[in-house]
Amino acid sequence: MTVREILKMGDPRLLRIAQPVPEFDTPALHALVEDLFDTMHAAEGAGLAAPQIGVDLAVVIFGFRHNERYPDAPPVPQTVLLNPHITPLAADGRVAVALEELPLEDGWEGCLSVPGLRGVVPRHARIRYRGHDVQGRVIDREADGFHARVVQHECDHLLGLLYPMRIRDFTRFGFSSVLFPSQPAGVDD
Ligand code: NI
Repeated sequence: MTVREILKMGDPRLLRIAQPVPEFDTPALHALVEDLFDTMHAAEGAGLAAPQIGVDLAVVIFGFRHNERYPDAPPVPQTVLLNPHITPLAADGRVAVALEELPLEDGWEGCLSVPGLRGVVPRHARIRYRGHDVQGRVIDREADGFHARVVQHECDHLLGLLYPMRIRDFTRFGFSSVLFPSQPAGVDD
C-alpha cells in the first residue's frame, strides 16, 4: 500500500495535458492504479487522476458507495478509466446537434488538489463516456447527476484543468468550513 503525495494547485504538473496510456494490463499500470486507490481512500476522495500524484498518464479512478466529503451524493460505481473520451448529451440522451440542447447543471465541487475549498461549477448534466479499464476492456457508459459531474471533474485533470478554472460565479466559492460549518471536516478538506 502506497499513499502518494497529492499535488496542490500551483504545481505546474497539474497543468499538463496527460499522455495516453500506450499499453494496458502491465505491472506498472496495475501498480499505478493500486496507488491511486490507496491515495484516494486515505484522503476520502470521490475520485483521483494520475496527474494529481505527478504521473503524466491519462488514468482516472472514481467511485464510492458513501462518501464523507459528499454525504448527499448517490453511489457511483467504482471505476478505473484509461484514455477517456466524453460526449455531452442532450437531456433525452441524444447526441446534441446544437449547443443550447446541452443542459448545464450547477453543483458544489471540491478537489484534493485544492484542499479546504468548495465552489459551484457548471457541468454537462448528461454525458456518454468511453475509455478502457486496466485490462484494456472497453468502458462505454451514460451518466447523469453526480456521476456525470465526477467523471467530468476527473477527466478535466487530464486536460490540465482544475475546477476553479470552470467557476463562473465566484460568489459561490470559498472555504468549506465557512460555507458548510455543520459538515464534519474531511482529512484535508
Ligand atoms: Ni480534482
